[in-house]
Amino acid sequence: MAKQFQAIRGMNDILPGESALWQNLETTLREVLAAYGYHEIRLPIVEKTELFARSIGEVTDIVEKEMYTFADRNGDSLTLRPEGTAGCARACIEHGLLHNQTQRLWYAGPMFRYEKPQKGRYRQFHQVGAEAYGMAGPDIDAELICLSARLWQRLGIRAVTLQLNSLGSSAARAAYRERLVAYFESRRDELDEDSRRRLHANPLRILDSKNPTLRTVLAEAPALLDQLDPESRAHFEELQALLAAAGIAYDINPRLVRGLDYYCKTVFEWVTDTLGAQGTICAGGRYDGLIEQLGGQPVPGVGFALGLERLVAMLAAAGQPGADPEPHVYLIIVGDAAQRHGLALAERLRDQLPALRLRMHCGGGGFKAQFRRADHSGARFALILGEDEINADTVAVKPLRAAQNEQLSLPRDQVAAYLRAAALGE
Ligand code: HAM
Repeated sequence: MAKQFQAIRGMNDILPGESALWQNLETTLREVLAAYGYHEIRLPIVEKTELFARSIGEVTDIVEKEMYTFADRNGDSLTLRPEGTAGCARACIEHGLLHNQTQRLWYAGPMFRYEKPQKGRYRQFHQVGAEAYGMAGPDIDAELICLSARLWQRLGIRAVTLQLNSLGSSAARAAYRERLVAYFESRRDELDEDSRRRLHANPLRILDSKNPTLRTVLAEAPALLDQLDPESRAHFEELQALLAAAGIAYDINPRLVRGLDYYCKTVFEWVTDTLGAQGTICAGGRYDGLIEQLGGQPVPGVGFALGLERLVAMLAAAGQPGADPEPHVYLIIVGDAAQRHGLALAERLRDQLPALRLRMHCGGGGFKAQFRRADHSGARFALILGEDEINADTVAVKPLRAAQNEQLSLPRDQVAAYLRAAALGE
């Protein structure tokens, strides 16, 4: 029989067997971000549509084709956030976090894009993002890149390379844009429909096209890097010197333009070829004009976001353990009279040993069936509470994994001390 309800295409359940790997990953990310002095900011999942249109850019794939936009009951146009940079900037302006101060922030959570689902590309996916405000120099760009490199190191991920480019100042970009339009106009016949449509609205994005028939026309296009304004060039050169000093290898990719319009100067992506077509695990760059564009004082910004699904896929492929830890103890409760004693014993042990992982048998059943469950649970000890134990105020303890697995009988008030040493090793 067909199942009546299924998750929305491209939106995944993360099942209990997978969640331990996610938690381990999130713990490492949080530790490294804290070590660099980044503070968490929690942001709404829904924002006004206009915020994304204005920041990401009207003529981008995200805004044109991929947003989950709906009318609120009072007619406002709202959108499920497709990324976190816009909301983070909005919150910082709204709460005055950028007045005469710098900020280092991070956020985590689901993002939504109506993309064609495939391996590594989903309609609901999760990002962890870091954003730094109020620092105009390349030192903070380098710090963010070092931070991301340290994440890969801490996670044991080796197969990634850093691609780097500079988009220059907005003035230099405007001048370059004109040259690019003239160039593409001169070869209009060779462009595909998508590129022709973008020609005047967003010609830089043509450079990002994956259409193989455009390869020659793209290869011969003028490169932005050759036309950088002096300030952007100095910024880019200093960034490279900083990365070299920190021992971080990179490839300069003059075609790296990114799919969001707010960037200027530094842009970068961490790419792996172990994930197939969706190989970018982390991407970001500088966006010095965004805060002002959203109505704030001019404040420079730079940041990145990484895709958790892609990182989880890399970690799982590398065989990183993803299982929840087994219980230390399985509590077997035989007979109706033992039920209340069983729950009370379990709660007392939890009071006394907060680190103890204790699974209490629920749902009744005979000793044999419960013992089988205890064995399957992976627990190291079974505690047994039956009529005899209740009458004698004892608990039977059966080691399940040791060579020495004699069952012993302990007075009930000595069980905690026994488990503290035998199960927790304290
Ligand atoms: P983005 O390149 O659109 O940048 O996304 C960043 C990362 O999110 C990607 O490199 C990828 O790992 C992951 N990602 C994006 N779309 C999907 C998807 N459909 N399925 C799975 N993973 C995906 C941004 O979002 C910018 N806000 C980054 C940034 C922050 N720039 C400055 N600060």
